[in-house]
Amino acid sequence: MNQIETERLLLRPMRETDAPRLVKLANRPEIAHMLATMPHPYSLSDAEDFLDNVRKLPSNAANFAITLKDAPDTLIGGTGYGPASGTDKPPHEIDFGYWLGLEYWGKGYATEAAKAVIRHAFEVSSIEQIDTEHLTVNPASGRVLAKAGFVDKGERTCYSQGSGQTRPSRKMVLSKARYQERKG
Ligand SMILES: CC(C)(COP(=O)(O)OP(=O)(O)OC[C@H]1O[C@@H](n2cnc3c(N)ncnc32)[C@H](O)[C@@H]1OP(=O)(O)O)[C@@H](O)C(=O)NCCC(=O)NCCS
Repeated sequence: MNQIETERLLLRPMRETDAPRLVKLANRPEIAHMLATMPHPYSLSDAEDFLDNVRKLPSNAANFAITLKDAPDTLIGGTGYGPASGTDKPPHEIDFGYWLGLEYWGKGYATEAAKAVIRHAFEVSSIEQIDTEHLTVNPASGRVLAKAGFVDKGERTCYSQGSGQTRPSRKMVLSKARYQERKG
């Protein structure tokens, strides 16, 4: 299953033709400074490198372009999960990330996408646990994770490539057992 339909969204594989739109939406500090591994400024060659990498993902990883169902060619954001490479996290941990272009914030799209992607992680890729985090200055992301069932495991710190800063964050964990319990 390499695409997922939700009520309002189609999560589909990223395509080479998404690169210019990816740059247009992602080249914002409001986005990159909240993420661990998104460069800022974000150039076309960053987008091309990223698209190249998502073609080579291991079997315990997945990545999706977030689109609106009625305009599936137009990227509005990105989401995915997989081993936490390029960060200070233990390599066995499965990380989870998401972002939306600024004009798409505040409409519940991230929560809708997050719930669908974690279902994919547990039910398609047989992941046992997702370990992620959000910066303390980013409560909207904490809320998205809480609504998807993640449990707050306390404070740590997170380095952001985009901002070049290490700042306080909250570790957020969702086990397969808790996911199944909530689903039931
Ligand atoms: C984080 C992000 C994905 C949220 O997207 P979104 O589509 O606006 O999220 P949703 O609408 O699904 O949910 C946001 C929730 O946070 C709440 N929220 C928004 N701003 C908030 C704030 N300052 N404090 C507390 N809660 C806040 C909203 O009210 C909503 O909760 P509710 O449904 O209970 O009302 C988006 O802001 C983004 O792309 N940010 C930059 C990248 C990023 O931070 N990625 C996550 C890294 S951990």
